Amino acid sequence: MIKWKPIVDMLLLLDGEHVSLKHTNNIPIGNPHFVEIMKQLESAKYDFSSVDWIDYYPSVHFDNTCVDEFSKLVDHEICRAWISRVDPGKNAPWHWDVDDRETEFLKLGKLKRWTCFITEPKVGHSLIIGNKGFYNEPAGTIYEWPNYREWHCAANCGMEPQFLFHFLGFK
Ligand SMILES: [Fe+2]
Repeated sequence: MIKWKPIVDMLLLLDGEHVSLKHTNNIPIGNPHFVEIMKQLESAKYDFSSVDWIDYYPSVHFDNTCVDEFSKLVDHEICRAWISRVDPGKNAPWHWDVDDRETEFLKLGKLKRWTCFITEPKVGHSLIIGNKGFYNEPAGTIYEWPNYREWHCAANCGMEPQFLFHFLGFK
């Protein structure tokens, strides 16, 4: 069992990489798939001041040990892993995770994606992947995505930051 609590406690005090239109170095802004997603958000008249989340990376913001353990647990090698944080009042709108390195990743093998709930349930923390909604999932719950490119969104209308662990693996 991976001990997520000490990691989350440490990240609560740490600044990570913001993902928002104010921080475009962390999004593949020129990728045609991303441009398509942006068009959808603009036509939905999104309030972009509410669109903001934070990513934390292994070996940069937190120790890599939990990623190694997770990789063993799901029996896949790592392409990419990170912890996302959505603060109260912020959201990650409907999108899929466009990555400029996707072609490189696909050369490694078949790709699979997982999300792990790493805190105990908190009021107002929601996650939707495809047609499935997640709320009040116990800490340690792991969900394998139907497709690594699945559309998803997250929102925090609660009172505490929402943290999730994400793993894109290959075999
Ligand atoms: Fe995402």
